[in-house]
Amino acid sequence: MDFIDLKTQQSKIREKIDKRIKSVLDHGKYIMGPEVFELEEKLSEYVDMKYCISCSSGTDALLIPLMAYGIGPGDAVITTPFTYIATAEVISLLGAEPVFVDIYESTYNLNPDGIEDAIQDAESKGLNAKAIIPVDLFGLPARYRLINEVAKKYDLMIIEDAAQGFGGEIREEKSGSFGDVACTSFFPAKPLGCYGDGGAIFTNDEELFHKMRSIRIHGSGSDKYENIRIGINGRIDTIQAAILLEKLSIFNDELILRNKIANYYSNKITSNFNKPFIPKDYLSSWAQYSLLANSELERNEIISILSNANIPSMIYYKLPLHLQTVFKKLGYGNGDFPISEKTSRQIFSIPMHPYLDNEKQNRIIEVLNKY
Ligand SMILES: Cc1ncc(COP(=O)(O)O)c(C=O)c1O
Repeated sequence: MDFIDLKTQQSKIREKIDKRIKSVLDHGKYIMGPEVFELEEKLSEYVDMKYCISCSSGTDALLIPLMAYGIGPGDAVITTPFTYIATAEVISLLGAEPVFVDIYESTYNLNPDGIEDAIQDAESKGLNAKAIIPVDLFGLPARYRLINEVAKKYDLMIIEDAAQGFGGEIREEKSGSFGDVACTSFFPAKPLGCYGDGGAIFTNDEELFHKMRSIRIHGSGSDKYENIRIGINGRIDTIQAAILLEKLSIFNDELILRNKIANYYSNKITSNFNKPFIPKDYLSSWAQYSLLANSELERNEIISILSNANIPSMIYYKLPLHLQTVFKKLGYGNGDFPISEKTSRQIFSIPMHPYLDNEKQNRIIEVLNKY
């Protein structure tokens, strides 16, 4: 059994993908070929945002808007410690400081109640809070209505990290549309993944769009040999864009399948693990289906039992970011973000992908319920 099965999906669309790749090989525009622009148009239509900039990864999709906002030394960016390193790494990379806010116990997403304290934390360190990066963890959008209220009050930009959230919704509005700017990742294991690295940025702000498009290609001006600002090599490959076009065409069907499996899990798992909480009017794209054990010991035991039954599981995330070696210099310690720390000790994720058949789902449920 695979934790995420990309082979079955590939076998369903292999012929179409082969055709798409052949077409790129035939026209030979490997960099910024027509598929890149076709993809950007389809993605912005899907998310219902005016502008989409495809790029080289979810990490660069976060980096580019921070660069466009001029975030740098002396600035603080507020985010969650319960996320993948990339969310906070890009802040430090620009010389700014991540300031963390703990998560909700129910959804594992950033709790907006902590934002005002984080702004004060930043001020006490002599920093200026400029932006918030909420993360749509495991596919579930963060609490944007409340985050927006605080952001407005303190004039903070919102950069939505929808790396795991593409396909998620709040009141039928798509992930990728909740911030001033939003970022997603097409890493192969993501809900919409390519066969390498890739990402995309969404915004309705025309000026920001032009700046970010320039930063994506070395700060280019009217052509690529006129350079008007510092940028990066942040393009997506044409072949990856071609692959994504085929994957996007079956993405909605896959979202339905993921949600069916998640509902089945949630209805049938009767053991004492905490199951995912989806708030009313929210839709998850189920990048992960995660359960919370009652203790670290229990979590490690169930992982070992699953493994003995040949059922793969993963831990996202073993160590919250404020306790990572790389962020020691930020001065945080054990006990600073108790919910993130507790969740790190007790959480585990079970197989989740659109092609997980009923027999496999039942096997997983049976092992969990026996515990
Ligand atoms: C929450 C989050 N942000 C950012 C990223 C970075 O995306 P990428 O791996 O495409 O650079 C990831 C990828 O795992 C992620 O999960």
